[in-house]
Amino acid sequence: MLKASVSHVLRRLVVCYREGAKARGVAVASEGRAEPRLEARRAEEEVLTGEGKTQEQHGVQFGRTGGTRTHRKMPPKKICIVGSGNWGSSIAKIIGHNVKASNRFDPYVNMWVYEEMIDGKKLTEIINTEHENVKYLPGHKLPRNVVAVPEITEAVKGAKILVFVIPHQFIAKLCDQIKPHITEGTIGISLIKGIDEGPEGLKLISDIIREKLEIEVSVLMGANIANEVADEKFCETTIGAKNEANGVIFKELLQTPNFRITVVQESDTVELCGALKNIVAVGAGFCDGLGFGDNTKAAVIRLGLMEMVAFAKLFCKGEVSSTTFLESCGVADLITTCYGGRNRKVAEAFAKTSKSITELEEEMLNGQKLQGPQTSAEVYKLLQKRDMVNKFPLFSAVYQICFEGKEVKEFITCLQNHPEHM
Ligand SMILES: NC(=O)c1ccc[n+]([C@@H]2O[C@H](COP(=O)([O-])OP(=O)(O)OC[C@H]3O[C@@H](n4cnc5c(N)ncnc54)[C@H](O)[C@@H]3O)[C@@H](O)[C@H]2O)c1
Repeated sequence: MLKASVSHVLRRLVVCYREGAKARGVAVASEGRAEPRLEARRAEEEVLTGEGKTQEQHGVQFGRTGGTRTHRKMPPKKICIVGSGNWGSSIAKIIGHNVKASNRFDPYVNMWVYEEMIDGKKLTEIINTEHENVKYLPGHKLPRNVVAVPEITEAVKGAKILVFVIPHQFIAKLCDQIKPHITEGTIGISLIKGIDEGPEGLKLISDIIREKLEIEVSVLMGANIANEVADEKFCETTIGAKNEANGVIFKELLQTPNFRITVVQESDTVELCGALKNIVAVGAGFCDGLGFGDNTKAAVIRLGLMEMVAFAKLFCKGEVSSTTFLESCGVADLITTCYGGRNRKVAEAFAKTSKSITELEEEMLNGQKLQGPQTSAEVYKLLQKRDMVNKFPLFSAVYQICFEGKEVKEFITCLQNHPEHM
């Protein structure tokens, strides 16, 4: 009897707390929902344990399985975002908010920042005091639980989830620095768009991370121009996760009402889409610079897509299905990059001026890096090795125009003679 009335009082207290929390604008878990918001959960646990201490402080966490409360002795996973450019900072905004809403993650997020001086002040200090990456994502406040750390070894300490988001040319060196600090069970996700070339052919950036750190690596690619994501304009994205459980974790970490995620298993195809579309975007920029219109751009997008599919089928180790190209990482990312984005913009300027890609990158991008021309160079090397340059005229022309002095107007000749029309 006494037991029943105590439990009744406790239930009433929880209901009262929930109502109070709703009034304060805090989301509260409805029955059966996976994860209540951190604040609500803490207070709820305080009520249920009858002490000032939360379950977390006891070293025990609550999880829910099918609506039944269970004790899950899993410490919250610490996240480290490796990178803090335009995309890195936008994703930090999402992660910073999402970790507060889940008991799966540690509520503080480290963000490794390549240290730079901005008007005599360290960028990390600016981020940690003003909560804004004034160089790479000006005008957006980062959540206060995102902590900028200049030392990579310090940033990754204790992290169980690593989010890689740096220009791909820096990844190998960083992984070497990170390796001694990796602990068992750490997983990674790469948001990096690019490829590399290894002794046996194509090397994906996720392959480099996997091999160097010996961890499982998923990828996230999609039609996601960083500033628009930071502005919380609706978009979709794709996670490629060979391990389904990791896909679930990353979806929980990264999805928001305006950043909708589909998880697929064909991780290599997803990643290749993210890298190859930047080459096509350079071609689209050439056409803009030459004064061609939307019909031409549509042709570049279509022919570019055909080359992306053919390249993936030839060079991917795993399965390549056409449906993956219909995800956000495929055709959607290709379209957005051929209309917006830095690769298109710099390529347009390249077609209109006599300046080199490197000069334009320095002049136009304020420290941001271009991926398209460099990816075209990696792809070209692979095509040459396999004697397949002629089968990929769009990819090859982008490389030859960027690096070998081929005239930009020759790009149109390459489209006119594309094997698709022969
Ligand atoms: N920006 C986007 O819209 C977008 C969207 C999706 C994916 N991506 C991909 O995300 C990755 C990161 O892009 P971003 O936009 O965050 O970066 P960015 O190009 O905006 O910035 C460059 C970053 O590189 C860092 N850096 C400079 N020199 C370095 C060095 N020597 N070592 C290590 N880091 C150095 C800078 O501090 C800065 O954080 C790229 O692969 C890009 O293709 C970008």
